Amino acid sequence: MTTKRLLEDAVTKILSKTEVRPEVGLILGSGLGVLAEEFERPVKIPYEEVPGFPVSTVEGHAGQLVFGYLHDVPVVAMQGRFHFYEGYSLKEVTFPVRVMRALGVASLLVTNAAGSINPSFSSGELMLIRDHLNVLGANPLIGKNIDEWGTRFPDMSSAYSQRLRTIARKGSAALTVPLQEGVYASVTGPSYETPAEVKMLQKLGADAVGMSTVPEVIVAVHSGMEVLGISCLSNMAAGIVDTPLSHEEVIHTTKRVQHDFLQLMKEIVKRIGEERR
Ligand code: HPA
Repeated sequence: MTTKRLLEDAVTKILSKTEVRPEVGLILGSGLGVLAEEFERPVKIPYEEVPGFPVSTVEGHAGQLVFGYLHDVPVVAMQGRFHFYEGYSLKEVTFPVRVMRALGVASLLVTNAAGSINPSFSSGELMLIRDHLNVLGANPLIGKNIDEWGTRFPDMSSAYSQRLRTIARKGSAALTVPLQEGVYASVTGPSYETPAEVKMLQKLGADAVGMSTVPEVIVAVHSGMEVLGISCLSNMAAGIVDTPLSHEEVIHTTKRVQHDFLQLMKEIVKRIGEERR
């Protein structure tokens, strides 16, 4: 089946299951899926039920779309995302972003857990993504361009919306939840980086490293959405400190900062809603 047809089928299916018409989309990373539990009048649709959606395999990910309202703003969240390292193509990884766009989502808020490369940041802090480095060696837009979905050569010079970053800054100040800012580099994983690789990424200008986000952001920009990215710095990257890395540490840290993260994301959605009205 063509991707266009799959998209139509996914949208038809979703519209038959929920009356929510989301304006804001959220992609919730490792340990951050709890935000969707805060939605009012939630409608949950497991990924298995959506045509074109692969099935998520990673621990700490629920694997469903959650529709609902946050501060009266209609929203949809991916509770759990798809990763390149799971063996999916970048087209599969980013298909949910196409679906969100087709449903009317104008603003995409992307979150992730990431290792901190910047030694002045600490594990457990949140980082506003100012820009990214695509170190995947691949791009989700490779292949025939579907012109209705976006232009062949999309501009990435302001991928992370200035407007949304200003909203995030104001939200962070109002809540006194500190927010670092930096450049996110995406690697394929699933092995964590070597200390030499972290040093290389540092030289390239990265402040944090993770295994997601960049493909989704590229597709969101391609499709004309405004994007906000926030990383939860779940650990110091390899070689920045001397301790071995583990997925357990990542989940442990994201749980620890869950409260601040939830407050900040809700505040951001609230402010997006206020600016729209
Ligand atoms: N490296 C890559 N991905 C990650 C890390 C890391 O240190 N922490 C969380 N996701």
